[in-house]
Amino acid sequence: MSFHVGSQQRDIGTWDSAIAKVKVIFERLLEEDGIRLKMINLGGGFPANYLTRANELATYAAEITRYLREDFGNELPEIILEPGRSLVSNAGVLVSEVVLVSRKSRTGLNRWVYVDVGKFSGLIETMGESIKYPVYSEKRGELEEVVLAGPTCDSADIMYEDFMYPLPLNLAIGDRLYWFSTGAYTTSYSAVEFNGFPPLKSYYI
Ligand SMILES: Cc1ncc(COP(=O)(O)O)c(C=O)c1O
Repeated sequence: MSFHVGSQQRDIGTWDSAIAKVKVIFERLLEEDGIRLKMINLGGGFPANYLTRANELATYAAEITRYLREDFGNELPEIILEPGRSLVSNAGVLVSEVVLVSRKSRTGLNRWVYVDVGKFSGLIETMGESIKYPVYSEKRGELEEVVLAGPTCDSADIMYEDFMYPLPLNLAIGDRLYWFSTGAYTTSYSAVEFNGFPPLKSYYI
C-alpha cells in the first residue's frame, strides 16, 4: 500500500490516520480474500527548512514509528519512504538580481522589489504564499517590508504580497537576493522561455 500525505506536511498526525486506513485494508484483504500485504510506502511529505517552522525529522520518525506500532504491533510490514524535498531542498540556493524597486504611486505605502526570477522561473511554490523561502540580502541597514515580485509582467508573477519580507531600504537595482532552501521543485518547475526569459541555470557543487 502506498500513500502520500501531502508535501511539506507539518501535521505529523496525517500519517496516523493514513496508517490506520492502511491497517483496515491489510486486515480486510486478509480476512475476505486471503491476501497478505507485505509493505507500506509512507510516501514523501517530510519537511524542508523554510520560514514556517516544522518539527525535526527525528520527531517525524519517532511519531510515525509509534503510529505503526500502535496499529501493527511488533509485526511491522516492510516500510519504505519516498522523500523528496526533505532530502534536497536545503542544499539549493537560488541567486537572483533586483531589476526594479518601485512604489505604485507617489503616496504608495509599499515598496515593490522586482527580481529576475519569479513564479515562472522556479518559484511557483510561492503560489498562495504557502512555501516561504528564507530570502537573504548582503545589504545592511534599516529594513522595510516589501512586496516581492518576478520579472515577467504577468499579474500572477508576485511571490509575496500578503506576507511581506523585511528588506534593506537601500536595496537597489543590481543587488542580489539569495533564496535559500530552493533545492527542490525549482529548476524542474522553471518554464522553458515564458515571456522570453530563459529557464533557471543550475550548478552542482
Ligand atoms: C508519489 C510521490 N512520492 C514522493 C514525492 C516526494 O514528495 P515530497 O517532496 O513531499 O517529499 C512526490 C512528490 O510529488 C510524489 O508525487
